[in-house]
Amino acid sequence: MPAPSHLQCSICGTHYHPAEVMYTCPLDGGNLTVCLDVEAVQAVASPHSISAQPDRSVWRYLPLLPVKSVPSQPGPLRSLGNTPFFHATRLGEALGLSQLWLKDDGQLPTGSFKDRASSLIVQRAIEQGIDRIVTASTGNAGVALAGMAAAASGVRAVIYLPKSAPQAKIAQLMVYGAEIHLVDGNYDAAFELSLKVCAENGWYCRNTGYNPYTTEGKKTTSFEICEQFTLQATGQSLVDGRWLAPDRVFVSVGDGNIISGVQKGFRDLYDLGWISHIPKLMGIQAEGSAAIANAFFAGNENIQPVNAQTLADSISADLPRDGLRALRAVTHTHGAYLTVSDDEILQAQVRLARQSGVYAEPAASTAFAGLLKAQQTGQIGKDEHIVVLLTGNGLKDVRATLQAVEKFGR
Ligand SMILES: Cc1ncc(COP(=O)(O)O)c(C=O)c1O
Ligand SMILES: [Zn+2]
Repeated sequence: MPAPSHLQCSICGTHYHPAEVMYTCPLDGGNLTVCLDVEAVQAVASPHSISAQPDRSVWRYLPLLPVKSVPSQPGPLRSLGNTPFFHATRLGEALGLSQLWLKDDGQLPTGSFKDRASSLIVQRAIEQGIDRIVTASTGNAGVALAGMAAAASGVRAVIYLPKSAPQAKIAQLMVYGAEIHLVDGNYDAAFELSLKVCAENGWYCRNTGYNPYTTEGKKTTSFEICEQFTLQATGQSLVDGRWLAPDRVFVSVGDGNIISGVQKGFRDLYDLGWISHIPKLMGIQAEGSAAIANAFFAGNENIQPVNAQTLADSISADLPRDGLRALRAVTHTHGAYLTVSDDEILQAQVRLARQSGVYAEPAASTAFAGLLKAQQTGQIGKDEHIVVLLTGNGLKDVRATLQAVEKFGR
């Protein structure tokens, strides 16, 4: 894309030149948002120029991404994107919702949404001649980094993750050849360790809610949602030269970086004048890992750590690293936070699979469990255009599935 205009701190609002700061705000540790140079992007791209591209990968959004070029090597890094998006008519009918749509990001190359961020970080690293990237992870972010690094050449992934991560995620890390550090502690412990090794060795840190560029990869799901929604709802790729946006999007939330990225994507399109409104964002947390939802319920921005306990391992976070932006993604779009129990998550996983054909891991099923709760409590209209973002493949955690079918699937 044309160079970003600046990075902006989410706490103090200070603007930085992109070359000035690598990670968080030096004044207060706030997360930095990468801000588009709107006029420069408008000068080189339009919804028409993007939709007309034969390339269906995320790289067709190059004019809106903070990289100079598309990956040169064929393979998963070059081709990821354009995941299934469809009108879930049977599931919608069962719920009395006429416009329920699903976005299945569990079909990205390593089976989770995190490929969107890792692909962008790997491409930036290649452009900057960086050969080692480190991340802390509950599992999926690490797997995504390992997979995208394996698809490139000359980039090594170093992953810190809790020993307790599901076996499939550890197996994926091993097969992609990442350097793995299993931490005798939780995700928060892995996070601290990874920061330490990066500081000591000068390695590049991909950590979510720390590296400003992860949201820039994650925002591509919002671009795809608008493009796919327009085409499927109207049969045309554009309406009056613009894309359409849905009314509401459900997103599961742990650290808060996915929902921040989803909001950033809609925000970019809105600022460019390419969509007419930003959807209401619904952030869904597990009851046992609800630091951001707690602040939302209290009506303030004071996010306090919790002692996270949930079987949805990917959204288990004591102290969300992108909490403030994740909270504002919801309040600024007039959405809401909801919490769901582990049993509601497992029940949602089974229902989603049986009534839509999408098999999602517990953390991803959480977004659908949130939709069920919002519907039961009368928080959504029956004809609203609703999207549920499904962020991870069910095969990531088969043990949880066996528990789900044992309890709710007979
Ligand atoms: C499948 C899945 N869903 C949701 C999330 C939550 O994303 P975030 O921690 O950015 O809120 C994650 C993060 O690991 C994930 O792997
Ligand atoms: Zn600041």
